Amino acid sequence: MKLTKHMLSLLVMVALLCCSLNGFAAHGEKKTEKKAILLVAFGTSVPEARKVFDKIEEQTRKAFSDVEIRWAFTSKMIRAKLAKEGMMLDSPETAMARLMNDGFTHVAVLSLHTIPGEEFHELNQNAQLFGQMAGGFEKILVARPLLSSAKDMETVAGILMKNIPGRKPEDAVLFMGHGTGHHPADAIYLAMNQVFQEIDPRAFVGTVEGKLTIETLLPKLKQLKAKKVYLVPMMSVAGDHAKNDMAGDEPESWKSVLIRNGYQCESILKGTADYPEIVEVWLDHLRTVLAHF
Ligand code: CO
Repeated sequence: MKLTKHMLSLLVMVALLCCSLNGFAAHGEKKTEKKAILLVAFGTSVPEARKVFDKIEEQTRKAFSDVEIRWAFTSKMIRAKLAKEGMMLDSPETAMARLMNDGFTHVAVLSLHTIPGEEFHELNQNAQLFGQMAGGFEKILVARPLLSSAKDMETVAGILMKNIPGRKPEDAVLFMGHGTGHHPADAIYLAMNQVFQEIDPRAFVGTVEGKLTIETLLPKLKQLKAKKVYLVPMMSVAGDHAKNDMAGDEPESWKSVLIRNGYQCESILKGTADYPEIVEVWLDHLRTVLAHF
């Protein structure tokens, strides 16, 4: 068969297109597969609470021994505060840029947040944008935060309820979630409240910034006629909110409000990430993402 002029120009076009799509190969640079995990937490300003990040890293390393592990923190306020103390922490965007620069081809980002709220959606959006950059990652995927399915909620609630040392069956339990007044994912706390109630009618969820405030819970506690209330954070880290807004001595803390209302209070200063079984729920989400590489 004779090649016509038309067919020849078509072949040239196809060849050019292949070259441009395969930019790296065309320049003789073959990318070797390099995988990384980016652990992303809100961050904490409380030094002793930061130890939990080392434990998460250790558990992650055990589960995924052959993958590079890095950290990033979503709270600008906390990054700025720690920078003043000489601790330079990356934002997720800085960490992703560094990973790209260091030639990583596959990145699994784990959101160590509690609900898929604002922080998670921003992280997800920016990771997708990084994924679209030419000459960068082959794949970047974001693993979901802690409470992302009914099963997650049941698992986490079950573990938290089993870890209230000294509690008698008649004592009430009040979990403090963060909550948000400007994201629909705040509804997850209402769902969690339901899950706890099914396990034990004396267990409730309240939030610092969401719809379920301590005031909305007081009438429910009253109905129980409980004398003692256990306060437990439902946040990854027992940081500033847990220490001050929940268990602090200031008049507005949950502890003070409950004491004023005639209850005895006991606070458990452990975050959800303090329990290896709960960290395992996060790592399961990471496993799901890594299975796509
Ligand atoms: Co807060």
